[in-house]
This record gives sequence, structure tokens and C-alpha cells, in this order.
Amino acid sequence: MRTNLTARTTGNKKLVAWVERIAALCGPDSVHWCDGTEKEKAGLEKILVGKGALIPLNPKKHPGSFLCRSNPADVARMEHRTFICSEKESDAGPTNNWMAPAEMRVKLEVLFTGCMKGRVLYVVPYSMGPVGSHISKIGVEITDSPYVVLSLRITTRIGARVLKALGDEGAFVPCVHSVGAPLAAGEKDAVWPCRPEDVYIVHYPESREIWSFGSGYGGNALLGKKCLALRIASVMARDEGWLAEHMLIVGIEDPQGEKTYIAAAFPSACGKTNLAMLIPPNGFKGWKVFTVGDDIAWIKAGPDGRFYAVNAEAGFFGVAPGTSPLTNKNAIESCRAGAIFTNTALTDDGDVWWEGLSAQAPKHLLDWMGQDWTPDCGRLAAHPNARFTAPAAHCPCIDPDWENPKGVPISAFVFGGRLSKNAPLVYQSFNWDHGVYMAATAGSEKTAAADNAEPVRYDPMAMLPFCGYNMGDYFAHWLQMGRAVPRPPKIFRVNWFRKDAGGNFVWPGFGDNLRVLKWIVDRVRGRVGAAEGPLGFMPFYEDILWKGLAYSREEFAAVSDVDAGEALQEAEGQRLFLDTFAKIGKLPEEFVHEQRMLVLRLKRCGAKWRLPSGCKRRGTALARKGQ
Ligand code: OXD
Ligand code: MN
Repeated sequence: MRTNLTARTTGNKKLVAWVERIAALCGPDSVHWCDGTEKEKAGLEKILVGKGALIPLNPKKHPGSFLCRSNPADVARMEHRTFICSEKESDAGPTNNWMAPAEMRVKLEVLFTGCMKGRVLYVVPYSMGPVGSHISKIGVEITDSPYVVLSLRITTRIGARVLKALGDEGAFVPCVHSVGAPLAAGEKDAVWPCRPEDVYIVHYPESREIWSFGSGYGGNALLGKKCLALRIASVMARDEGWLAEHMLIVGIEDPQGEKTYIAAAFPSACGKTNLAMLIPPNGFKGWKVFTVGDDIAWIKAGPDGRFYAVNAEAGFFGVAPGTSPLTNKNAIESCRAGAIFTNTALTDDGDVWWEGLSAQAPKHLLDWMGQDWTPDCGRLAAHPNARFTAPAAHCPCIDPDWENPKGVPISAFVFGGRLSKNAPLVYQSFNWDHGVYMAATAGSEKTAAADNAEPVRYDPMAMLPFCGYNMGDYFAHWLQMGRAVPRPPKIFRVNWFRKDAGGNFVWPGFGDNLRVLKWIVDRVRGRVGAAEGPLGFMPFYEDILWKGLAYSREEFAAVSDVDAGEALQEAEGQRLFLDTFAKIGKLPEEFVHEQRMLVLRLKRCGAKWRLPSGCKRRGTALARKGQ
């Protein structure tokens, strides 16, 4: 079998032996070890353009960028085909699909045998986190998809420098990916080869291995992202005493130059990328917001007793629809050059377009499936889960410390979801355990990023599809982590999506979310007091900076009120959800206590809890509460 491996490529014998073993199983025509060079990139682009899988965009609009159209049956993460194959079923827990590892290995052996026939097997060494950081980990993905190689090149750090960091003895997470479409001699390849009827995304947590078959799409195929950086890393984090979380990391700098970092978890498609790249609203002169990451944070205790976080990734894989120069100018700028767009529409002048990009749709497009599209045709032009893949370094507000190997210090954890009822704009937990309960009972209405069927689902820490072990044990790990460090971050819940009876959003969102983040910063720095509500500490109207936004006390009350009846129903929903863990003896006692206290507070607060009004005092007696 042809290979470009030489003695200079790597001295890591375990790695070479593993690649040889996988190559013998998959039977590709040749093996290519990726060095990450520009020459290699140009070669892969040429191959994909040649077979019509990448469409070069107009270089005046998007230099060095491409559009790619997936098979319409391969457009999202497939949670029902994702497995945690721990030795014991109880270690995967009630929220994961499980199959016995021995049984799964037999299935995969059959599927992978000869699956790369007629193709090139690419070996992609990659680092999650800055190369060489003590928080980072190395993975090696074997794939038969050049699109995957090009995407990994953007979303992670790949190539020779990673092999150098790995060294002769270093450990790596082995990841095997195939689109599952071997080619017979002379057979023409599909533009997007895949095998949707046989998709398996498999994690072996004990041996820290990942195997993915049949899909070429996003999180199913870019195995560094959800598979390694969350599912396998969450297991490593449990064993090694750190946190691998589905969190953006953002730095907020006030006009005096004081910066506070916040890590925030939201389920897919809840505006995480917008929050990570927020543009300060009117009235916030001198404030700056910096992006460290938009999706995955790896967090470890530092020598000063605080948590420090790195962005595990090097690029964004953002949801395109809804992203525009008005909603997220920084994301638009990030994907101006060197980007890959997947399943967006194509304009007649070689640009991309998606719903929400501009108020007016172009008169004619090719839609995400390559068909003629006009505004009156009744179809979406872009798939709702269309994505842009763009280097983080291109983001105009990237934080100067985004690649700092020590990470950035985190002062607050924020948990949110997309909920049109009940959940108020923002509240702070009374203490760490209460905060972990708040995080574990966060929920969200349905999004396009995954194929879940429920209209609303509880999504603890936004990790439901991403926790690689029993979620009950994950709760216990979180509770323990707060005790293990002297200065854990304060914990908050937010909801940008509350609606009024007419179905209108009652909070403007986007840049105005900085008003909420500023209150969070003021809380963690001990500058403002808070009202003690039944759900947690809530902001007084007076303590939010309203400059530049006409938002009345009544409007603020409408986004902050707690209807006790509805909240009690919600608490019952939480109880039922948590019961799943109680039944298997995995519900932390702390949660039982928090649940009781929540119900008690709601029963004691009257039919509707309203923010105390007219309170002008700041930072004095009230500040003592919750400090
Ligand atoms: C993502 C997701 O793609 O969470 O980031 O689905
Ligand atoms: Mn995500």
C-alpha cells in the first residue's frame, strides 16, 4: 500500500502500528500522513473541486473559500446513532445509547472491513487546545474524507507540529472515521459519499477510542469536536479532576480596562456564537467584548484556586441561518476568507446566502441542494443547520489570550436555554450546590442542530448529547469540583427568549445581552446587591445599565416575574426528569435538598413573585446578600 510515511514523520511506534492496523482493516488505495502545510491544503481542495464536492466562491466576496453541499440525508448530528460503549451499561447511564463493547466491535469490524477501498486514508494528528498546553490533548483521526481533513485543519491544530508535540512516547486518542462508501474499480464517486442507513458514532470510554461510520457531516465526522472534546474528554475530566464543557468563553472589558471572563453553556443553536462575539450596544462606550471560544471549554484549577479555561478548538463551526452583519458582524467577518460553507445557498455571483443574512432575499439562488430557488418557491434556500467553518484567528474580537497555554481565569458560569415561558432573564444561585442544580435542570426548546424529537427537553449543562458517562455521576463530579477549589466561579441562569402572550420576545437580546453580562460581572466583583427571589438572586432594575435602551421598569418586571403556579409545574417537571437518576440511585442528595427548598420557596412567595420596586440602594446592605 502506498504511503508518504518516512522515518522523519514520527517516531511514535504505537501510532505507526495503529495506523497500519486500521489501514489493513479498511483497505484504502493509499495512506497519506497529513503535515498541515499549505501545499497539502491546496492539493485537497483541488481534488474536491475536481469532483464537484467543493464549489470555489467568488474570490472578491470570499477569498480562499468554498461551498459544499452534503447529501440531504446527512445534515445533522445523529444522536440516535451515537453510542457510549462502556463495559457496564450503568456507566453510560440513562441518557446515552449503550451497546456492549464486544458486540459493537463485531458490528464495526464488519462495517469497516474494506470500507476505504478505492479511497485515500488520511492520518490527521490534531491538538485540542493550544499545542503543548498542559490542558490540551492530542487526537489522531484516520478518515477517508478530504472534506473532513480540510475542516479539521480549520477547527483544530493539525499536522507535523502536533506529531512533534506528541513525541515518540506520547499518548493520543485514536479516532477512526469512514464515510462508509468503498469504490469499486472505475466507479464514479458521489459528490458527498455517505451511508446514512448504517451510521454509527461510537465511543469506548475505557480505552478512550472513537469510531465513526457512514456520515461525513460536522460533529459525526470531525471527531475532535463533540466526540473527543466533550464525550471522551468528559470521562478524562472526571478521572483527572477537571471539566470538559459545552461552553463558550468570553472576556468582558470595562472602560477602565478591567477584564472578567465568563464561560457559558447553551444547548445547540441558542445563539452561543452571537454571545461569544457580542458587540456592545449603544450606551456601552468604552466596553469591549473578546472571544476566547464559542463552543467547548476545557477547565482546570489553577495555582491561585481559580478555574482556568482554554478553548479546545481553533475554529468555529457556526450555524449560518440567522447570522448577519446585524446579528453577528464578527462571525460574518470571521468567515470572510478561508472558510468552508456547508448547505448554504449560492448566489448568481458566487456568494453564499442563507435565511436571515439580509432582509431581502436575492431574486435567484441555487438552494442548498443545488436547485433553482426564488423567494416565492416555498422552500428554504439554506438548510436550517447550514454551517460556516472559519478560523478563530480571523475573528475581529478574538481575545489576545485565546491561545494562552495557561488558559484564562473564569469568574462566572452561565447556563441558558431557549424557553419562551417561565424562565426569567437572569438569576444567580444562592451557592455552588444550588448553582449546579440550576445548571442540571436547564432546558431548551427544539433546535435544528440535532435530530431530537421532543419539543422541549431538559439538557443538563447543555451536555445531554455530549456527556460520555452516567449523567448522575457527572452531577456528582460538578458538585465535587466546586468543593475542590477555594474560589469557584459564581453560577447564573439566563434566558433571552421569554415571550409575551402575543408571542413576541420580551427581551431585545443580541448586543443588549451585555447589560445582563455586566450585572453578572458586577455581582462577581461584589459591586451590586440583588433581590432574593424564589429561584435565586435577581437584579434590581436600578442595577442594570440602561443607557441607550428604552426599557421600562414594567418591561423589566415582565422579563423577571416568577409565576409561582407555573414555576411549581416546572419544578415538578424537573423532579420527574431527575427521577430518572433517582431510580438508578444516582441522584445526588444535594439535588433532593435543592428541589425541596425550591418548592418551599415557591409555595411561600404568593401567586406571583415580583421584583421589589423603587429600590435605590446599591452595594450596601443588599450587597451582603449572596456575597
Ligand atoms: C454544535 C452543536 O454543532 O452543539 O456546536 O450541535
Ligand atoms: Mn455545540
